[in-house]
Amino acid sequence: MEKTNPIIKLKDVTKIYQRSGGETIALHNASFEAFASELVLLLGPSGSGKTTMLTIMAGLQRPTSGDVFLFGRQFYEYSSKNLQQIRASKMGFIFQTFCLLDSISVIDNVMLSLKFAGIPKDLARQKAIEFLDRLEIKHLMNVLPVTLSQGEKQRVAVARALVTGAELIIADEPTGSLATQQGMQIVDFLNRSCKTESRCVIIASHDERISKYADRVMHLRDGILGNGNL
Ligand SMILES: Nc1ncnc2c1ncn2[C@@H]1O[C@H](COP(=O)(O)OP(=O)(O)O)[C@@H](O)[C@H]1O
Ligand SMILES: [Mg+2]
Repeated sequence: MEKTNPIIKLKDVTKIYQRSGGETIALHNASFEAFASELVLLLGPSGSGKTTMLTIMAGLQRPTSGDVFLFGRQFYEYSSKNLQQIRASKMGFIFQTFCLLDSISVIDNVMLSLKFAGIPKDLARQKAIEFLDRLEIKHLMNVLPVTLSQGEKQRVAVARALVTGAELIIADEPTGSLATQQGMQIVDFLNRSCKTESRCVIIASHDERISKYADRVMHLRDGILGNGNL
């Protein structure tokens, strides 16, 4: 069967940070592609370049050299407005620290994603409730995030990332703040969503236990990306 086009593709991407005291090659000639319905784990220790790679994929920073293709087009082919729309409606982000807004309720946090994606309020509310229910936290929809446990916050962050129907989900250390079982439940949920909703899910982590949920594991070490045979 012919493979579809990659959702995200990096070609010979290098990122060099300049800092007083010297420069760091955070990513060295990395080439990578990921497809719909695929969960890819970027596995590497702290400082290996995982966050750098994810932020480049997200278009949050530019590589020093190399090409990045998002949904088949180079980043620079998109206008900044276009990129903003794509980020809002086709991409979902999950951060280790969740990045929830503490002054608004759980459901409003989730609905905000849909607002940015241009979904009308009534439909947004319906979808937000549907996803909170899928993540088994519907009963918490009206509370403020500060009152939640780490595991519950993570579920809100996952609902927020998935609710727009995003085709590309980028998760940076999504299990980092969680107990093992909670962490693996979240990865299992992402894995199922990847398969049943044809999403491309990219998870960066130092946690090898995630490997068993991944279709493919790429190893990062000192900015060098490999398929495990390093
Ligand atoms: N903004 C920055 N300026 C300078 N160096 C950075 C910056 N961000 C990351 N680095 C360095 O780049 C390397 C990779 O960092 P990072 O991508 O955050 O790795 P990881 O997410 O795997 O821990 C590290 O050596 C880190 O210190
Ligand atoms: Mg990191």
